[in-house]
Amino acid sequence: MNERIPPGIDMRTPSVARMYDYFLGGKDNFTVDRESADTLLERIPEISALSLGNRAFLSRAVDHVARHGVVQYLDLGAGLPTVENTHNVAQRADPRARVVYVDNDPVVLVHGRALLTDRAGTAFVLSDLRDIDGILDSDEVRALIELDVPVCLMLVSMLHCLPDEDRPFDLVRRTMDRLAPGSYLIYSHLVSDDPGTAAWLTEQMSGFGTPWGRVRSPREAEAAFDGLVPVSAWPDGRDEGPRVVDCASWRHPDLAPVARPEDDKIKLWELSGVAYKP
Ligand SMILES: C[S@@+](CC[C@H](N)C(=O)[O-])C[C@H]1O[C@@H](n2cnc3c(N)ncnc32)[C@H](O)[C@@H]1O
Repeated sequence: MNERIPPGIDMRTPSVARMYDYFLGGKDNFTVDRESADTLLERIPEISALSLGNRAFLSRAVDHVARHGVVQYLDLGAGLPTVENTHNVAQRADPRARVVYVDNDPVVLVHGRALLTDRAGTAFVLSDLRDIDGILDSDEVRALIELDVPVCLMLVSMLHCLPDEDRPFDLVRRTMDRLAPGSYLIYSHLVSDDPGTAAWLTEQMSGFGTPWGRVRSPREAEAAFDGLVPVSAWPDGRDEGPRVVDCASWRHPDLAPVARPEDDKIKLWELSGVAYKP
């Protein structure tokens, strides 16, 4: 990225959106993001693969929901545009699909708006997702999304950015409460079953000065699905095995769904799933 400083952007502090872009092999990041990301990769090299796996999960999940007739998407913590974005997948399945992207990072706003110029059925809102009522009542959402018909809420690799005091799982519930029955949640969350790995990553992020939450245990992260019905994690929809799984294995054409990566050396993954509101 051109390293001239756009107004309002702190070049001394890495941003989650730009570090994640670096993990995905993107170019919309600064030196501070790359250096911080490399510090994490030195101890947890699986972060690159899990980021790519998470994006692939997002595409498979949106395709699944789109094929079940949902045409409205609210992508919270959407991140920088990448190869396949929510509207690319959803509008391929149904050209009527409408997507509102939300992120609180001004760099995401600049790139998001540039990508979406002239793209019918999409909008970008610069907002903090903790103001969910403000988002749902914003002009952009009102113009594209009807709340009395099913909406797909997307919280993909996002809720670990919120600390416990922000009550992230209450936020999911409050948001789903405002959506119509038949609405979907597409969700993933960074988790670990190794307290040392979880604490180390959380401490590093806080040391960088980047606003962040924490890595949670799989059980904690599953709370997002309370009151919802997770769909099968098999591509053929069979009623077997875990439904909330390592993102790499969710409805993967060649892999069985697994609750955690099979390699014991891997200590960090994205717990993921898709659920609907009955
Ligand atoms: C790891 S990225 C995930 C991007 C995308 N959802 C994906 O899974 O590919 C997390 C995103 O959440 C955004 N974010 C973090 N905290 C946020 C908040 N409080 N409100 C809105 N967006 C936030 C970051 O700017 C970043 O773009």
